Amino acid sequence: MRVPKSTLAALRRSPKLLLNIHFWVVMALFGGGILLHYPQIIPFIEPLEPDSFLFLTRHSIGRLVLLLPITYAALVFGLRAGLASVTAAVLIMLPNLFLLTQITNDDVIEMAGIVVIGLVVNLWLESYWTDKKHRQQAYARLETAQRELQRMQQNLRFYLKQITIAQEEERRRIAQELHDDTAQDLVVMSRKLDSFISRGSDLSPDDINYLEDLHHLINRTLSEVRRFSQDLRPSVLDDLGLLPALEWLTSELSKHFNMDIEIKVQGAARRFPEETELVMFRIAQESLRNIGKHAKSKKAWVTLNFSPDKTVLTIKDKGKGFKPPERIGDLAALGKLGLAGMQERVQLIGGQLKITSHPGKGTTVIVTVMDSDNISQ
Ligand SMILES: Nc1ncnc2c1ncn2[C@@H]1O[C@H](COP(=O)(O)OP(=O)(O)OP(=O)(O)O)[C@@H](O)[C@H]1O
Ligand SMILES: [Mg+2]
Repeated sequence: MRVPKSTLAALRRSPKLLLNIHFWVVMALFGGGILLHYPQIIPFIEPLEPDSFLFLTRHSIGRLVLLLPITYAALVFGLRAGLASVTAAVLIMLPNLFLLTQITNDDVIEMAGIVVIGLVVNLWLESYWTDKKHRQQAYARLETAQRELQRMQQNLRFYLKQITIAQEEERRRIAQELHDDTAQDLVVMSRKLDSFISRGSDLSPDDINYLEDLHHLINRTLSEVRRFSQDLRPSVLDDLGLLPALEWLTSELSKHFNMDIEIKVQGAARRFPEETELVMFRIAQESLRNIGKHAKSKKAWVTLNFSPDKTVLTIKDKGKGFKPPERIGDLAALGKLGLAGMQERVQLIGGQLKITSHPGKGTTVIVTVMDSDNISQ
């Protein structure tokens, strides 16, 4: 004889089921239902009289009690166990109908009611569990997507950090080469030409004029190369630190943009690690260039405030101002890299950047660096 596969699976599961406390609770509730249905099988127990409790007959109470194991089984074991419990409840109630001396309509309606309520409870719980499962799956998918997004953001941040570091390194290398090689060659060239002109008694006045023009051109190129090299990476920042570098920057930009830049230092000045000073310098540089380019203001203020626990750099103008976007990073997509770059750089040193601006009321850029993260070396 072939035993159906489902029965075999059920048999394999049965030892586990017998150890399950919920299984025994369902059994106990069914047991209670059977006792209420067939009190005559229990010796020494007086059956309840009709209309004996809350206007319900003993049979009604017995039938209602059967809803308990149905609901419990559906709740704990799911739809299949719930439907099996409805079937079991019908099997418990049916023989009692034949034992009654007189079957009333109420008895039939009650029994059908118990079956219908049992089925509704089962379907309702099933849809509740299905909904919950779907919600949990959606939540798990959302969490996975969030983790993936976070990982991508971390990678992007790391990538940006590496790009910024590489860009600064490249600037330093080009600035050094311009300063050490190109500028030195131009100096030698200029000196040689100078001594040639001073010795050149047999040169015609036209030749001397020509060579002097050339000498003048070489000197102009030399100062351009020096300016370009300083612009790429001011040696004063590496040699003397942030404050002298800011003084140099304000004097250069005030000449370049023909505006007055006031620089103020509050508290006792101190040095920071190289990358922190570089970030603060670059932010001041970009903010002042923005003022020169966009603010239509002839005055700017730079304040460096040193307090015991933090240092705050403020660059301010009272020019035309603008409406900053909700996320500064969005500007990068429009090809405006200045403010977005400031934000990226400040994150590299664990500082904070605040940009406030209102049309017609000017712009203020504030960088805050906590000293605990940036102890001078
Ligand atoms: N001080 C300021 N006053 C008025 N508008 C400003 C000021 N600073 C920035 N802006 C506005 O914010 C925009 C974004 O500035 P951001 O420095 O990011 O880009 P950009 O200066 O236009 O270009 P980039 O810096 O890449 O050369 C500017 O185009 C300008 O409209
Ligand atoms: Mg800019």
